[in-house]
Amino acid sequence: KRAVTIANRTFWLSLLAGIGSFYYVTKKDRTPGVQLPHDPQKKTIVVLGSGWGATSFLNTLDTTDYNVIVISPKNFFLFTPLLPSVAVGTLSPRSIIQSTRYVTRHKTRAVEVIEAEAQHVDVVNKTVSFIDNSAIQGELSATTIPYDYLVYAVGAEVQTFGIPGVTEHACFMKELHDAEKMQRLFLDCLESAAFHGQSEEEIKRLLHIVVVGGGPTGVELSGELHDFLEEDLKSWYPELADKIKITLVEALPSVLPMFSRRLIEYTVSTFKESKIDILTQTMVKEVKDKSVKLALPDKTVIDMPCGMVIWAAGNRGRAITQDLMAQLPGAQTNKRGITIDEYMEMKGTNGTIFAVGDCTSSSHAPTAQVASQQGAYLARAFAQRVKRDDLEAKVTELERSVAMILHDDERKKTQDELEGAKRQLAKFKIRPFTYSHQGTLAYIGSDKAIADLPFLNGSFASGGFLTFYFWRSAYLSTLFSLRNRTLVATDWVRTKIFGRDVARE
Ligand code: FAD
Ligand code: NAI
Repeated sequence: KRAVTIANRTFWLSLLAGIGSFYYVTKKDRTPGVQLPHDPQKKTIVVLGSGWGATSFLNTLDTTDYNVIVISPKNFFLFTPLLPSVAVGTLSPRSIIQSTRYVTRHKTRAVEVIEAEAQHVDVVNKTVSFIDNSAIQGELSATTIPYDYLVYAVGAEVQTFGIPGVTEHACFMKELHDAEKMQRLFLDCLESAAFHGQSEEEIKRLLHIVVVGGGPTGVELSGELHDFLEEDLKSWYPELADKIKITLVEALPSVLPMFSRRLIEYTVSTFKESKIDILTQTMVKEVKDKSVKLALPDKTVIDMPCGMVIWAAGNRGRAITQDLMAQLPGAQTNKRGITIDEYMEMKGTNGTIFAVGDCTSSSHAPTAQVASQQGAYLARAFAQRVKRDDLEAKVTELERSVAMILHDDERKKTQDELEGAKRQLAKFKIRPFTYSHQGTLAYIGSDKAIADLPFLNGSFASGGFLTFYFWRSAYLSTLFSLRNRTLVATDWVRTKIFGRDVARE
């Protein structure tokens, strides 16, 4: 009896302690302290972007030694790996975004956050021009500011290859509003198919969803759509659910080329069971209002009727990036993106511009994993840069003193000190960036995920239910804040209990 009482008390005490510490941590997060103001003596870092590269940079940077200004058209960070889950309503949009101010308000020195789109970087004069192009603007909505260092992390934009009709008729899967738009359009297709007296042929067309691009975005989205169909639509649209068809179109001979052959085969067989059609070696030539024009492997061109097209065919550099590179024609010749060295320095900019993430062309794939490691590395390198600058200042100061001191003994002492500082400076090296690959993961629907994980000197491939739980826990722990982790975890529970919402906003 006594043991039961002790166990009981321990349980309640631990529960109380858990709630108490959760409350304490969240309260502390919501009440950041007073920050140091900007210091005109310190150098200014201007950061362009609030995505993976920029946020990781800001998270890691010690702002004590720099004035920092962040400019981005979005005042939040978007956790892209879970975007396809938002598109079908498994997660709420707000669960996977985090205000940039949440990061910057916890820094030692105040960071200025400006919601604006950078339009031009002047490499010679070291300035950035930007505009506020949101719906509401103040008297001043365009200006130019100087920088000492520029951290360039504007990512990439959707690649359309100039294919007719893509911009007008297809739905992208890159930004939060793309996922919200896709959810609305998909439910619209369902409601239009349910319209009284709709012909069988029109129902078939409206319920045919075409996903273009067999990269991880297209595959994950197809898997999420299948889950929505199986777990919810069968209950709420019983007369239509069996008529919904998902087709994944890929120009290359295989989907997911970055995964091992075994996992590609596993995905293809899972999609077969899920009745998701995969058309490989098939190129989308045009997107029309009610169909897509396809060039099949035998070169015949057909018009395939469909209700909606989701475009996940890859990315390309932004116009501002091309403009920036064009200012350095000798050093920036790679059409895929900004050429950087192993210190993230943009070649040709003499240590003033650093670029990370999808806007660069390096030997690494354009992934969140790479962008966040590069951002964190760069922040650490900036801390080392301060130490180097301090040493350089010390050497200059000592050289000046040596020239001025008349007393021999004193001059000898200062001379020794100068030699010591010079030796330290000569030895001082900022370590280059090294990428540590943590593996590649993708969700393929039906509570299954695939993972290619580094193991010893090779890799370990796994797929299925267990990998799905690993996928979930990996992304839950990667989310930047306790708030996001809590929201995503509760969304998963909510979807399990109540299902996804089919109300169309
Ligand atoms: P982004 O994260 O795109 O950030 C760019 C930032 O720049 C944004 O804040 C943007 O608003 C801002 N910006 C744009 N234009 C301007 C301008 N003119 N001035 C100032 N700021 C500007 N990678 C993985 O490793 N694992 C995954 O599971 C994964 N899943 C993904 C799922 C989806 C649906 C998508 C679309 C991508 C996924 N990725 C994944 C890829 C990953 O999101 C990108 O590689 C990553 O976002 C690149 O980070 P970045 O900082 O370079 O760019
Ligand atoms: P992607 O570039 O990886 O894939 C796009 C695919 O579309 C390509 O396979 C291409 O052949 C195909 N394509 C292009 N034009 C086409 C056309 N006209 N018709 C038919 N097919 C066409 O793009 P994705 O999937 O958006 O990924 C972008 C980056 O983000 C990649 O580096 C990827 O690794 C990363 N990412 C990683 C994820 C993960 O690790 N789980 C998830 C999503 C993205």
